[in-house]
Amino acid sequence: MSSSILVTGGAGYIGSHIVLQLLLGGYKAVVVDNLDNSSEIALKRIKDLAGENGPNLTFNKIDLRDKPALEKLFASEKFDAVIHFAGLKAVGESVEKPLMYYNNNLIGTITLLEVMAAHGCKKLAFSSSATVYGWPKVVPCTEESPVSAMNPYGRTKLFIEEICRDLHLSDSSWKIILLRYFNPVGSHPSGSLGEDPRGIPNNLMPFVQQVAVGRRPALTVFGTDYGTKDGTGVRDFIHVVDLADGYIAALNKLSDPSVGCEVYNLGTGKGTSVLEMVAAFEKASGKKIPLVKASRRPGDAEILYGSTEKAERELNWKAKYGIEEMCRDQWNWASKNPYGYDSTN
Ligand code: UD1
Repeated sequence: MSSSILVTGGAGYIGSHIVLQLLLGGYKAVVVDNLDNSSEIALKRIKDLAGENGPNLTFNKIDLRDKPALEKLFASEKFDAVIHFAGLKAVGESVEKPLMYYNNNLIGTITLLEVMAAHGCKKLAFSSSATVYGWPKVVPCTEESPVSAMNPYGRTKLFIEEICRDLHLSDSSWKIILLRYFNPVGSHPSGSLGEDPRGIPNNLMPFVQQVAVGRRPALTVFGTDYGTKDGTGVRDFIHVVDLADGYIAALNKLSDPSVGCEVYNLGTGKGTSVLEMVAAFEKASGKKIPLVKASRRPGDAEILYGSTEKAERELNWKAKYGIEEMCRDQWNWASKNPYGYDSTN
């Protein structure tokens, strides 16, 4: 019988790509999502892309803070492991509404962990973030680099990492992998799945894509005076399909009896500047992206990229795609779905 994996936030951008990889890899995927920031259309498309494995996907519209609903789900089915993405992730919003972020991200996670414990499901891959490295003094960041949060969103990631460590200390039968991933971009090569943020995008590539399809006039470049090669911020962009494969590698690792509570970076180990990324997207799309230079965005790091050595060594995983493929696939999604999942075409 195939393993059954619960994916919280499985209808979202990253979650949807992982659900597809799970199905293609022969797993059964059970998605829990409150659809606050995601679309059920993504799940329908995943089923189509998974072909004969499509029926192995089931969906439950549940908010993780709804403990009775989660209890009911766990009582009805045995899960081999949980991949936990569900949460709020807009940095600026988290500064304005910290209680909303603590309530959603922390209470949702604690409720999930309580229900998992009660049902003897003690394997977890948690979606942490490279945001926990703050403004690093030294790059590439390794898993041992100092951590610090610069806003409530980042703090929820740090707190959850600590909660997981305490949980494992209290009961070593928990197997937990904390994945600190860098900047996921790109889309499934079919162009059927991709990032579809509500409102004005906070992140670089969703904004660039909306400029390319004519929804916004220009990209505002936050900061052109950094001490980097061209003055703009540098990030470790990773193709979302590579990221999805990293999660599958982490799932495999959870079956290794030696695993306790481990943290891994998922990135490419390469730094790319904002302007380099824009140039790669212009090349891939054939569209000019008008730029407006602006001051630095508060709380932004100058250079953030990660060491991938630990993941390569222990998860046997390495990112395959470069920024050309990321931009090619992102444009494929954007041109086919200029208004995201609500596009009429
Ligand atoms: C951001 C969050 C990070 C979170 C991640 C989730 C902040 C400060 N950080 O990471 O905590 O984990 O998203 O996806 O928000 N940029 C522009 N113009 C734009 C948008 C971005 O110039 O319209 C620049 C930024 O200044 C930065 C780079 O592009 O230098 C990447 O920004 P973004 O895509 O928002 O990612 P992070 O800031 O790395």
